[in-house]
Amino acid sequence: MKTAMPPCDIFSDAVPEDLCTLRGSSFDTPYNFAYYAEIDSTNDTAKAGDFPSQTVLIADAQLKGRGRYTRDWYSPSGVNISMSIVIKPETPPEMLSLMNTAASLAVSRALRAATGLDVWPKWPNDVYIGTKKAGGILSESIIAGGAIVKLVIGIGINVNTGQFPIELKDKATSLLIESGVKYGRGRIIAAILQEFDKCRSYPAKRLISEWTAMSRTIGSYVSISGHRGIAKGLNEDGSLVITSENGKTVAINTGEAANAACR
Ligand code: BTN
Repeated sequence: MKTAMPPCDIFSDAVPEDLCTLRGSSFDTPYNFAYYAEIDSTNDTAKAGDFPSQTVLIADAQLKGRGRYTRDWYSPSGVNISMSIVIKPETPPEMLSLMNTAASLAVSRALRAATGLDVWPKWPNDVYIGTKKAGGILSESIIAGGAIVKLVIGIGINVNTGQFPIELKDKATSLLIESGVKYGRGRIIAAILQEFDKCRSYPAKRLISEWTAMSRTIGSYVSISGHRGIAKGLNEDGSLVITSENGKTVAINTGEAANAACR
């Protein structure tokens, strides 16, 4: 791992102009910001470092941005959002996927409000515009004594990417590609954090019902971790309930909803 330059705070001159708007934003639960011009991965740095709860690490570029299943996450300089929120909750590990639910709902709502685009959360932690992926969430935790002592919620959003590498261009999109408009990243980050504060305070039932109302996973035919069938809904721990082709009902905790048809 390359040694990262120390972070700047959000008031530093080194912070790009479109991120400076974060300085004037207010939040229900105050956040600390650490800005990195270039870093391997905000999630890796957040996990390794001793950051207080409610720190948000933001990188202008990631050299080794990671997606789920150790996939690379495309994180070029100056255009997208690459951030990780550090939270020190005392949450039972089985509730971790509800934090994904809260984060993907928050991101979808914030992007929809900012752009008017058809943004929706795809189970378990993708954010889609129409049929293409515009963002993803990678939640990782450090567990001690049976509880999550540190939760890192990594959020990547394709904001102002104008063109993707060939291997991504059929499945990825950005706010710019979809709308023709360049967006200031600071305002979008602030809107995400404000929505995240709301969503994570919802009781599980409300969180799930609001996520379900916005998502297209539920009601679709899905194929996940060897199970195929119709996605019926989310359990209170965030797991996805599928009725398989053989009539059996299964609850799936993690996995990727492949070929999920859009309703
Ligand atoms: C996925 O869809 O597979 C999840 C993508 C998560 C990407 C973000 S960008 C900020 C944070 N740092 C990383 O290395 N990954 C997450």
